[in-house]
Parts: sequence; structure tokens; C-alpha cells
Amino acid sequence: MSHLRHLVSSGRLFRLSKVPRVNTAVCCHVSQNRPFSTTDRSMTVMPAWVIDKYGSHGPLRFTRNANFPVINYPNEVIVRVHSAGLNPLDVRMRDGYGARSLSMKRDPLNVNSGNEFPLILGRDLSGVIMECGLDVKYFKEWDEVWAAIPPWKQGSLSEFVVVSANEVSHKPKSMSHTEAAAVPYVASTAWSALVNTGGLSKDNCAKKRILIIGGSGGVGTFAIQMLKAWGAHVTVTCSQNAELFVRGLGADHVVDYTAGPVEERLGSLAKFDLILDNVGGDTERWALTLLKPWCGAKFVTLVTPFLQNTDMLGIADGMVQNAATVASKVLKHLAKGVHYRWGFFAPSGPALDEIMEMVDAGQIRAVVEDTFGFSEVPQAFERMEKGHARGKTVVQIRK
Ligand SMILES: NC(=O)c1ccc[n+]([C@@H]2O[C@H](COP(=O)([O-])OP(=O)(O)OC[C@H]3O[C@@H](n4cnc5c(N)ncnc54)[C@H](OP(=O)(O)O)[C@@H]3O)[C@@H](O)[C@H]2O)c1
Repeated sequence: MSHLRHLVSSGRLFRLSKVPRVNTAVCCHVSQNRPFSTTDRSMTVMPAWVIDKYGSHGPLRFTRNANFPVINYPNEVIVRVHSAGLNPLDVRMRDGYGARSLSMKRDPLNVNSGNEFPLILGRDLSGVIMECGLDVKYFKEWDEVWAAIPPWKQGSLSEFVVVSANEVSHKPKSMSHTEAAAVPYVASTAWSALVNTGGLSKDNCAKKRILIIGGSGGVGTFAIQMLKAWGAHVTVTCSQNAELFVRGLGADHVVDYTAGPVEERLGSLAKFDLILDNVGGDTERWALTLLKPWCGAKFVTLVTPFLQNTDMLGIADGMVQNAATVASKVLKHLAKGVHYRWGFFAPSGPALDEIMEMVDAGQIRAVVEDTFGFSEVPQAFERMEKGHARGKTVVQIRK
């Protein structure tokens, strides 16, 4: 499927070569020969939840006057959002996490935050394509799609959003929009961490022992299913009350981290080929000793200090601190025969294409813990703030 996309999608090449911005009036010609237009050209505003400043108390505001998204590059599409999935990142971004680095990514000339408001949160979407840029060949209007939107772009807690065709994939036919919105961000993160960073694939997992630290949340519940579909042996740490839940997703062995020092029980097991750390904190103090030494085994943590460093120290000092962190951790553990790596969310339509096939083959299901209406976004954030997730929180924008 991703091979087909590669052949068809000249849009990706266009995007990579940083083409100049395209006048939206030109983009509108895309629909001229079609029986009807999918978006109303007179629309300049839309309903959305925005924040106008960072902070944890009440910055979420509903507006009917958010700017209607505009196609700025010929490989972009406008999607009408049916459902939006939330992630811990949304709560942290609301509170200001990553503001400095993400502002720079939004506008390379802007090293200070402040110009990004009103900011729309929400990284996951499932919806319908309403408008295609001139260079989009792989998608057409009315296609049902899903995507994970990078954090430097306007998010999905709105009726419409503009995304790059490189970030979008056709939604699995077997999933509703609500289910589909629970998958892209955690799936893209798990894929990036396990496949791109960890070197795993469907062809090399059969004899591998994988440990997932924190298996009951969004990333963990997806990673268990993906690794089981590829034949790996999967051990999971989680609270006792999540044991049946993660076993139901395929976990072979479950260790309750609330019943005493988890490292002692994990230490009595056979060593692992790869550890995916969704928890951070002091896990790295003991987790790397659980890896097979001198066999290329990897510890991949999703809890990264990099954006926090630049938030606290500024861009220049933060980057120096980041380089020092990378050098010290990687070298220290390399000397002991294991690899220390950081995993990152990476938006990828081709990865979502492959995941869509796994979903439609019945290998992966969505794990939706809670759903909220579009008027209940503050309540959805309150649910996220409580933690102890057992899957995903989804906002239904269109019912
Ligand atoms: N680097 C990146 O680009 C990137 C991308 C996505 C996510 N992340 C990070 O990855 C982490 C996981 O994301 P997520 O979406 O899966 O979060 P989540 O949905 O909130 O899940 C976290 C899970 O960890 C469990 N947990 C907490 N402490 C634990 C411990 N000591 N041992 C075992 N399990 C524990 C929680 O349940 P209980 O508290 O009930 O045990 C919860 O189910 C987050 O820190 C997130 O910020 C990073």
C-alpha cells in the first residue's frame, strides 16, 4: 500500500522541495469541474476549541470564529473532522510544554512564543477530505481518512483542519470515526519508536522478547497489539487492575508495578531484546540491566527531556544541554553493551497505511476508554488530567 502511495504521491516530493506557498484561489480550481464543491468558499470561520494563553486553569475557550483552514501548499488537504483523539501531550501543551521549540518550528524567525494564539489542540483526527491541493493525487474529496497532526500545526479540536497529504492515510473500513481517532498518534509514535528507532519489523520479531513499561495507556495498548501481530513475546508492566485488560490485548506476561519493586520480579525473567519505556522517571536506573548485553538490544524511552530543556533554558542553552544528555547516556550504556535511544512521534501517512491494513485484517483494534461530545472538551481534558488511562479519550465532533 505504501509503495502504491509512493508511486502516486508526487505531493510528498513537492512538499520536501519546499515549494512556494500557493494562492488558495488557485487551489480552489481543483473542484471546478466537479458537480459540487465540498467546502463553502464563503466560509472564513469555523467552530473550534482554542487557547489564548498557556495555563492549567480554564484556558480552553469555545469559539465559532476560529480561522477556517487554508491550503498553503499544493500537497495539503482540508479535512472535515468527525472525531478527534486526545493525548497526554495535549494537556502538557495547554500548560505550555514545548512552547519555545514548537514556536520556532511554526515560524523559524520566531524564537519566542506568543504568536501561536489562538491555538487549537488535538493531535488525532478521523474525518472526510473536503478539499485537495493541486498536487494531491493519492486522495480525493470525500475520502475517509485518519491522521496524527504534528504539534507545531493547528490541531483537530475544530470542525476543519488542514494537513499535509504525507500525514494522512485512508481510514480503516472496519473502524468508526470514533475508533479511528483513537489510533493515529499513539500508533505513529509506537511505529516510530519500535520500527524506526528499535529496528523491529514483522519479519524479525518472531523470536524476540519485548518489555513494555507502562502497557495500559494509549501507546502501550497499541504497541502490545502490534508486537503480538508480528509474533514477539511481550511482557508488560501495569497496575494490578489493568492485568486482565492487557492480557486481553495479547500480553504474554504481566508484572504489577504496584506490588513491590518491579525491577526484582523483572530481573528474575529471561533478558529482553528491546524495552519500550512509556513511564520514565527512575525506570532507566534499573531497566537497562534487563537487556541482553552485546546483542544489539535497545532501551527506547518515549519520555524525553529535549523540549523541556529548551523550555527551561532557552533555545541555545537547551540545545547544549540536549547534546550533553545524548552523549552521556548513549556512551554510558554503549560501554555496557546495550543501546539507549529516545523514541519520538513521527507523522507518517505511509506508516498509517500499514497500520490500516493490520486493523482491517483484525490484528489491531482501537481501545477507546471514554468519549465526549464537542461541547464537552473541558471535561475530556479533565479526564486526561486524571491519568491512569486504559486506552484513549476521544471527542466526537460530528455525530
Ligand atoms: N516522545 C514522544 O514523541 C512521545 C509521543 C507519545 C507519547 N509520549 C509519552 O509516552 C508516555 C506514554 O504515553 P501514553 O499516551 O501511552 O500515556 P497514557 O495513555 O497516559 O498512559 C500511561 C500509562 O502508564 C501507566 N503507568 C503509570 N505509571 C506507571 C508505572 N510506574 N509502571 C507501569 N505503568 C505505569 C498508567 O496507568 P496507571 O497509572 O494506572 O498505572 C497509564 O496507563 C507519556 O509520558 C507521553 O508523554 C512521548
